[in-house]
Amino acid sequence: MMSSRMSENFEVTYCADPARGATWKQIFRDELPQTTFRIWPEAGTPESVEYLIAWTPPPGIAASFPNLKVLFSTGAGIDQLDLGNIPDGVQVVRMIDPNLTSGMVEFATMGVLALHRDIPHYLADQRARLWAPRPVRRAADHIVGIMGLGVLGRAVADALKPFNFTLKGWSASPKSIDGMRTFAGIEELPAFLSDCDILVCLLPLTSETESLLCDTTFKLLPRGARLLNLGRGRHLVEEDLLLALESGQIDCAMLDVLRAEPPEAGHPLLGHPRVIVTPHIASTTHPVTAAQRVCALIKQHRRGLPLEDAIDRRRGY
Ligand code: NAP
Ligand code: GLV
Repeated sequence: MMSSRMSENFEVTYCADPARGATWKQIFRDELPQTTFRIWPEAGTPESVEYLIAWTPPPGIAASFPNLKVLFSTGAGIDQLDLGNIPDGVQVVRMIDPNLTSGMVEFATMGVLALHRDIPHYLADQRARLWAPRPVRRAADHIVGIMGLGVLGRAVADALKPFNFTLKGWSASPKSIDGMRTFAGIEELPAFLSDCDILVCLLPLTSETESLLCDTTFKLLPRGARLLNLGRGRHLVEEDLLLALESGQIDCAMLDVLRAEPPEAGHPLLGHPRVIVTPHIASTTHPVTAAQRVCALIKQHRRGLPLEDAIDRRRGY
């Protein structure tokens, strides 16, 4: 049943990849048949648009959509949004999609295992036509530290448990999670990092987490630690990683994200023999389950219920 405060006549505008938009439109037709769903730049009745779905919204949304209530990000991260240009009254909701989570779990598990089992070294050896076995490492002898214990970080931790790594986690606020030692806040960062053999970054990008993967952080890790950055490129100071690889402080790395995407062809990390780079594909939103999630949230919102998955603008995630 609709809240008495909200009319049933509202529009939804989708402003992202149009091919995926066709799938979104079909899901909306099934789940919210009374709703007009438009794919930007199709013009509707701007005053009727209460929900906008976008990776980055069109410019000037306050003027274009004067009655906008909610902006849904098509991604888990919202750092691509300029929150200063989104009116205070508009709630911003990030994407929590079971397929996005399972994709990240697959990729992160693969990445941790690849780093653990020396795959960057073996790829370099193969390119050099070398056959050079290394001692097989036991997961039980190694510590994996996960920065970010949110939806994705916790799902990745759960997936890693059966391999018998020792798991540690770091977040902004204290947590108690079965099977892992947890640390919170910048003051506990050194203790968290002190013995991590593999460091996984699944943080959101905020003013506090930008450039956190830097020389200072690397020096707090044991010598020869390995890095898996699955968060955002701007978490990493790339020059510091190059120096840490050079000195051996960081042994090898896998980076799914870079500061500039796509990077220039001559980017030194692209050609580094101990770094595997992938083009920001660790996980993506699945249009069917993402659209179903947004429809469920719109139904909640129409009933006057608090919006799950809304970000806290002050924290920036
Ligand atoms: P989330 O549920 O919001 O979790 C964020 C976690 O980071 C929380 O545990 C939070 O701590 C912690 N955190 C935030 N600021 C911190 C700080 N200053 N110090 C310590 N911990 C901090 O986010 P999520 O859904 O797991 O997604 C995480 C990120 O993954 C996204 O923001 C995006 O950048 C990235 N991502 C990448 C891809 C890819 O393909 N590479 C795909 C999807 C997402 P609290 O729990 O205490 O709040
Ligand atoms: C992808 O990077 C996302 O934030 O969903």
